[in-house]
Amino acid sequence: MVLLMMTFGGWVNCSPEGSLMLLILCVQMLTVAAHPQCLDFKPPFQPSEPLTFCTTYSSFGCCDAPRDAAIARKYRHILSYFHHSGIAVCAQYVRQLLCQQCSPFAAHLYDAEDANTPVRQVPGLCAGYCAEYWKRCRSTLSLLTGDPRHTELEADQARFCGLLELRDPDYCYPAVLASRRLNARLGAVRADPRRGCLQLCLREVANQLRNPVAMVHAGDGTRRFFVAEQLGLVWAYLPNGSRLARPFLNLTEAVLTSPWLGDERGFLGLAFHPAHRRNGKVYVYYSIFARQAERIRISEFQLLPGNINALDPTSERVVLEVVEPASNHNGGQLLFGRDGYLYIFTGDGGRAGDPFGRFGNAQNKSSLLGKVLRVDVNHNDNGPPYRVPLDNPFVGERWARPEVYAYGVRNMWRCSVDRGDPVTGAGAGRLFCGDVGQNKFEEVDIVRRGGNYGWRAREGFSCYDKKLCTNSSLNDILPIFAYPHKLGRSVTGGYIYRGCEMPNLNGLYIFGDYMSGRLMALKEDNASGEWHYHEICMGRGQVCNFPKLINSYYPYIISFAEDEAGELYFMSSGNPSAYVAAGTVYKLIDPSRRGGILFLFKASTAGEMSL
Ligand SMILES: *[C@@H]1O[C@H](CO)[C@@H](O)[C@H](O)[C@H]1NC(C)=O
Ligand SMILES: *[C@@H]1O[C@H](CO)[C@@H](O)[C@H](O)[C@H]1NC(C)=O
Ligand SMILES: *[C@@H]1O[C@H](CO)[C@@H](O)[C@H](O)[C@H]1NC(C)=O
Ligand SMILES: *[C@@H]1O[C@H](CO)[C@@H](O)[C@H](O)[C@H]1NC(C)=O
Repeated sequence: MVLLMMTFGGWVNCSPEGSLMLLILCVQMLTVAAHPQCLDFKPPFQPSEPLTFCTTYSSFGCCDAPRDAAIARKYRHILSYFHHSGIAVCAQYVRQLLCQQCSPFAAHLYDAEDANTPVRQVPGLCAGYCAEYWKRCRSTLSLLTGDPRHTELEADQARFCGLLELRDPDYCYPAVLASRRLNARLGAVRADPRRGCLQLCLREVANQLRNPVAMVHAGDGTRRFFVAEQLGLVWAYLPNGSRLARPFLNLTEAVLTSPWLGDERGFLGLAFHPAHRRNGKVYVYYSIFARQAERIRISEFQLLPGNINALDPTSERVVLEVVEPASNHNGGQLLFGRDGYLYIFTGDGGRAGDPFGRFGNAQNKSSLLGKVLRVDVNHNDNGPPYRVPLDNPFVGERWARPEVYAYGVRNMWRCSVDRGDPVTGAGAGRLFCGDVGQNKFEEVDIVRRGGNYGWRAREGFSCYDKKLCTNSSLNDILPIFAYPHKLGRSVTGGYIYRGCEMPNLNGLYIFGDYMSGRLMALKEDNASGEWHYHEICMGRGQVCNFPKLINSYYPYIISFAEDEAGELYFMSSGNPSAYVAAGTVYKLIDPSRRGGILFLFKASTAGEMSL
């Protein structure tokens, strides 16, 4: 057997040929901060003309030239209240504070992410910076906010800085600019050695990918796998790891995305029809701009006649389109359940706190947003592209869209179907999802027919909208696990391991966090039905010291995957821009599976000898 690690072309910044040490150094040098977002919940961008006032944000931020000019006018207006001595001391504070609306983290700095609090007029400040600001220039606050009541706060430093404090210290100004915790790190998430953790190793399977959002197989026995990049390309890989030169699908022309970090739009998911071998059908989920609106589109494609490695670009049939009121929270998972139906996982439509309509989209069964949808795309060659299965839970309910299978979803990012225990079959068909949280908790859910997953009434186990949360008709299903933002800020749902090579992992739900780079596992207590948390860490010392095994990975965990045999993979990037080829696919390897390691070792020795 030939080992799967392949490299395609040379690396631009970092060479994989070098030692692991070099790889670590390279990645630590990338100072990419996580989850930037503007006040309008769009991704930051590069202004078409350089900014003349907020010059710090000329190459990447949230302001264009007119906005920059407006900020400069406000700055001059505020300074007109001061004498020369005051200007000398305070000009830089006024400028820094005004310009934070151009920061790529503006949504965090101004607390726009927290719908329970009004958007701030002044960015959230770190305690040390605020103390200095209060000491030297506190009288500028009421001018910055335009609220004369703020002059009353000037006498009291604690109240003054209390007002300006951001509850999330990672995002306060100026720490957000330099935060090590937010910046890229490689395999830095180490368990406390006294507590122990599940040590795993990795094998690199593919690299040089631009935000690999999904990897799927065709289920047709060919053992090929297909990796989708956010900008709209799908690549076919042969079982020996070689990538075919021609893309399986190229939708780059139609897909709406941008190179800017934090853009949640793009090509987001794909699924092969369970009878793909017979009908050649594949379903895709992507963002478009059409008819004056941003939308998500779910489409069906078919193979080119006589070619199993390319879809026919002219075969597209739109299954469903949904208007997205904001640029964030576009959902993106597509999968087929064991019932043969297509499941579509939409986001709540975006902004923060699911603000649309009277109680948001997710709790509104008339809206397709914030939902798990279930449609029947079988036997659709004549007639409409999908039908509603008659046993969908809300069929016949007035006002409810019949496609809805489950609701109360914020932005499920990555879901999977449990194959079931290889011996007993227990657990088969369960649908696991990670649902990304708002301000406090990330959650993992098992999706059931007709279930309400709580959002925006609830986030994790806690109440988010108190009024909705205490309504006895909410009747929501709680997550099987939720974790606070200390551990991570954006869950990436994974899979239950059911493969053959790593029997110790059987039954573990393995998932991760996009922002903290943490890999995690949940194990079900069969007696109580509760799920218990297990930390995953990379094997230390000699544990992964075998040819082709590594014990480090890029930190932005974008997605998980399984191959036809049920072995697990994940995809992560060192620079999560849809246009930067810094994404890698890793296979999870249990080092305690000695037989496997020995096998690997022998195979690689043989491979080297044959060269
Ligand atoms: C993988 O298989 C394909 C087709 O059989 C072959 O063309 C290619 O050279 C192989 N790649 C490697 C690295 O062996
Ligand atoms: C994808 O299509 C675009 C536009 O049709 C084209 O410019 C680009 O080269 C294609 N990419 C690949 C990898 O084939
Ligand atoms: C529910 O969503 C539908 C479709 O978007 C909308 O027309 C309706 O006003 C919403 N209902 C409430 C109560 O917000
Ligand atoms: C509770 O929820 C139901 C159904 O959504 C709604 O009709 C009712 O008005 C709510 N009650 C309160 C007190 O908000």
